[in-house]
Amino acid sequence: MSDARMLSVLSSLSHVARQLDVAHSSRPSANGNCVKLDMNENPFPLPAIVKESAMAALERHHLYPENDNIALREAAACAYGFSPDQVIAGNGSSELLGLIYKAFLVPGDTVAMLSPGFSFNRRLAMLQDAHFLEIGWIENNSLPINRLLFGRAGVAKFIVLANPNNPTGTFVPIADIERLVAQSERLIVLDEAYVDFAPDNALRLVNRYPNLLLLRTFSKSYGVAGVRVGFGFGHPELVGRLRTMQSLFSMNVISQAVGLSILAHRDAYAENRRHIVRERERVARALSAHRFAVLPSEANFVLARVPPGHDGAWWQAALQERNVLVAFFPEEGLENYIRISIGTKVQMEAFLSAVSDVSVSQT
Ligand SMILES: Cc1ncc(COP(=O)(O)O)c(C=O)c1O
Repeated sequence: MSDARMLSVLSSLSHVARQLDVAHSSRPSANGNCVKLDMNENPFPLPAIVKESAMAALERHHLYPENDNIALREAAACAYGFSPDQVIAGNGSSELLGLIYKAFLVPGDTVAMLSPGFSFNRRLAMLQDAHFLEIGWIENNSLPINRLLFGRAGVAKFIVLANPNNPTGTFVPIADIERLVAQSERLIVLDEAYVDFAPDNALRLVNRYPNLLLLRTFSKSYGVAGVRVGFGFGHPELVGRLRTMQSLFSMNVISQAVGLSILAHRDAYAENRRHIVRERERVARALSAHRFAVLPSEANFVLARVPPGHDGAWWQAALQERNVLVAFFPEEGLENYIRISIGTKVQMEAFLSAVSDVSVSQT
């Protein structure tokens, strides 16, 4: 296409799309031998029965998937104690978050999030040309309810928070979440992506508060980040609208089948989850011995302040040189931290040995 014609096409872009960077695909530099602890994935293999359901679903490759994910929504409703019209299913909770932002925000609106939080929310707000208001935790990590509801956040169309939170791993008691939801007339989006690693969850609040929308994903505790299965639970009026906004056939036959099979075999994952929780505590202790300050976590990762002398970016690079990938966040306040996902014992041994190696090289 000629430059002039391309310029003419670009001139019709929406205000928001015009401001976006052009995506450049860049593969992570990791080779296949890396120990990948940077995205809170769950490395355990699928239970054989779940894998079989995925293979069987491939036989239906020529058919469209069931629209509106009816069977999957019915199964999730049954598993979590709701009616199907209170459930939306999607390609991970990211798809559902995207629908919420589209449904609630027009340019100039505000959304509030606990900060530091899941940064994808910032991008979603930007795509709606909305203001993204970040409300910091206070020192003792208790939920800043007043600051989430009043002051600058008073104009927010909805409030989003993750419990346990990413990237801190912080878990706030459900009683505090309930106080927030009870005091608000506005929507509270509670993202429970990591809740299966935590001591409690907020499912019981959904039927009590029509302004609560709870999100779950099978990417973390059920290890299918690559298959894409997520759910939202809330009031039928809200959930029904979000479902209408979903793209036609949004989930595919494999993600639907895997979601159904996991729901039918949730017990098969209990040991895997126990392992991650045990390993999380072991890794936290080992890191403390290397002079890291590890935040208490109820998720499948830990956020650790690196020892004095170097920042988080330096540690990330030093570990990557030793074939271990961890996450670093350049945002203000997180410069001296790295986030480490908890995986198998073998992966965590490789991580700890790389940490030892880096520490020794410093002395
Ligand atoms: C807090 C939080 N919510 C949602 C997601 C997205 O999960 P999904 O794979 O279901 O899109 C993540 C992924 O890292 C996350 O950390």
